[in-house]
Amino acid sequence: MSSEEMYLLYHGLILPKETHSLESLKFAQEFTFKDEDVVAVTYPKSGTIWMQEILPLVLNGGDLTPIQTIPNWDRVPWLEEKRLAVVVDQLASPRALVTHFPYHLMPPSFHTSKAKVIYVIRNPKDVIVSSYYFHQMAGFLDDPGTFDEFINKFLEGRVMFGKWTDHVKGWRHTELGDRIMYITYEEMLQDLPAALGRISDFLGRHLSEETIQKIAQHCSFKNMKANNMSNFSLVPKVHMDPDKSPFLRKGIAGDWKNHFSSELLARFTSVIHKELGSDSVSLPWSLD
Ligand code: A3P
Repeated sequence: MSSEEMYLLYHGLILPKETHSLESLKFAQEFTFKDEDVVAVTYPKSGTIWMQEILPLVLNGGDLTPIQTIPNWDRVPWLEEKRLAVVVDQLASPRALVTHFPYHLMPPSFHTSKAKVIYVIRNPKDVIVSSYYFHQMAGFLDDPGTFDEFINKFLEGRVMFGKWTDHVKGWRHTELGDRIMYITYEEMLQDLPAALGRISDFLGRHLSEETIQKIAQHCSFKNMKANNMSNFSLVPKVHMDPDKSPFLRKGIAGDWKNHFSSELLARFTSVIHKELGSDSVSLPWSLD
């Protein structure tokens, strides 16, 4: 399939046609956010489906029904994807959504509402490794080529949702005040109960230690990998082939060390540093 057949271009971003259409993007722009909505924002491969597991449980006090009965893409749909229009009327209240949109493409009602935002950021070196394998298993994405070639594409923003640096910078300089909370993938990995405590406090749900522990257990990598409502095993192989690479692949921090040569690392770090400019200093991990 040619790249034109696979992707559509939206405000300079390439988006896979399998999950996005001009209608779904229009639907997103016209979507009416409610004050009690919660939206998790991620650059792809930074922990989106993890938030699709966490948010319903935090919001409903640990009731496992949604994660055991509703596929992740319908349970906490993507704002920009086709499924939202199909499931919007069935979403539990308060509604939880995810989006990969950059800040400047969020719809007007988002800005006028009081909807809360959780921005999940992951070390870009691990994002790129995760994305590299995802491109191998997803039939609706282009072949990533060699890791070296894929790094060039990633750094030039020739991947879905554009440059990682633009996404991070756009969401750092918002006017959202205390409507936005930042959390890292690595922080969730290191101490999930503590991260869940921060998330639940931010969302005004003061959960007991017992409930937090229960949610943490159900949102572990191992349990999500075994959950057919969350591991994409319901998706036909032609779209996602776990034999090429499972969606829940390794779930660790630092896999980049197994993929970057010192030359690649130097190139990657120098471009990211340059593009982030003064923002680099406030990143939670060293890029080197
Ligand atoms: P890896 O490919 O490095 O394993 P997204 O949902 O944004 O596409 O991100 C997918 C990445 O998040 C994958 O990373 C996946 O394994 C990881 N992930 C999903 N759930 C996780 C969990 N419970 N614990 C740790 N990592 C998780």
